[in-house]
Amino acid sequence: MIKTISTLRKSANMFSDEQLQTFSKYNAQAASALREERKKPLYQDAEYADLDWDNLGFGLTPADYMYVMKCSKDGEFTEGELSPYGNIQLSPSAGAIYEGTKAYRNENGKLLLFRPDQNAMRMKIGAERMLMPSPSVDQFVLAVKQTAFANKRWVPPSGKGSLYIRPLLMGSGPILGLGPAPEYTFIVYASPVGNYFKEGTAALNLYVEEEYVRAAPGGAGGVKSITNYAPVLKALSRAKSRGFSDVLYLDSVKKKYLEEASSCNVFVVKGRTISTPATNGTILEGVTRKSVMEIASDLGYKVVEKAVPVDELMDADEVFCTGTAVGVAPVGTITYQDKRTEYETGDESVCQKLRSALVSIQTGVTEDTKGWVTCLN
Ligand SMILES: Cc1ncc(COP(=O)(O)O)c(C=O)c1O
Repeated sequence: MIKTISTLRKSANMFSDEQLQTFSKYNAQAASALREERKKPLYQDAEYADLDWDNLGFGLTPADYMYVMKCSKDGEFTEGELSPYGNIQLSPSAGAIYEGTKAYRNENGKLLLFRPDQNAMRMKIGAERMLMPSPSVDQFVLAVKQTAFANKRWVPPSGKGSLYIRPLLMGSGPILGLGPAPEYTFIVYASPVGNYFKEGTAALNLYVEEEYVRAAPGGAGGVKSITNYAPVLKALSRAKSRGFSDVLYLDSVKKKYLEEASSCNVFVVKGRTISTPATNGTILEGVTRKSVMEIASDLGYKVVEKAVPVDELMDADEVFCTGTAVGVAPVGTITYQDKRTEYETGDESVCQKLRSALVSIQTGVTEDTKGWVTCLN
């Protein structure tokens, strides 16, 4: 399917030095390519990749290696292996569910992972909903650790960004009719990233979407499946073309309650109370959401999970979004039915306090008393 490192090595080592010499006479270029392949180390160990770290956006910059592991119908994953990042051959009828977690570099150069076990469990639950086999939590976490470590030179310097790690599970075997795929593939790849939104860390301007819905009760809105992102693209591109940063979706039945944004969860602050839509299968249970709720409770806020009426946006003090990619992002304005409401932001905001507490744990600035952080080196 793909050329793994061992396959490349094998072809390079198939020939003796004498054979390569003879080979050189006829095909010098190919012989020298094979010689070069032999010399390459398994991992590239330079401290940093050659990149402009000060100007990282959220475009894809594939790091060196990805991890590939296969599963057949019986649900057993065989041992995976790292291979150079590259295109894979894929059945045209394949589909995917995926995850997103990050590795951070602290000021002493240590590499830290944030709660990858939570992503593993979410993939497991999502896979069950989609009738897919999934790697065990241990297999998933091991794959994430190996991928992050092998790609360590792509982890940005402290304070400049993070290494976004994307584990994904897809039906990779061919099938025409409707049914579970005959083969599954689990892949983990990584990309260094900076800010998710073009606004950087500035406040977001959200648009409440009333025409398109993201998910329906009984559907699979709570699964991190590609099927939940395709339906939002139209609403998102329309809002972006009108200058908004992202879309806030409403419940599909009454169009009265907040759900979440296209790629993050939402929180509404009023005084010392922080409310967030309860998870009932239509929104994604964010790892950041869960972590921020715990941090907010620790800091003495009242945290409420409930059906949050869109009208509560009208007299909220603050609104913020959470997600692995977006972090804890302040919302400056929300536009609903042509009315624009403004919110408090800035250094003294609740959002900023929670953001700073979370980032300090993720980057090893404050001690991790919760067992959320795994150090890789
Ligand atoms: C639709 C959606 N909601 C919420 C989130 C936030 O989840 P997490 O905090 O686990 O990244 C994400 C990102 O993964 C998302 O895509």
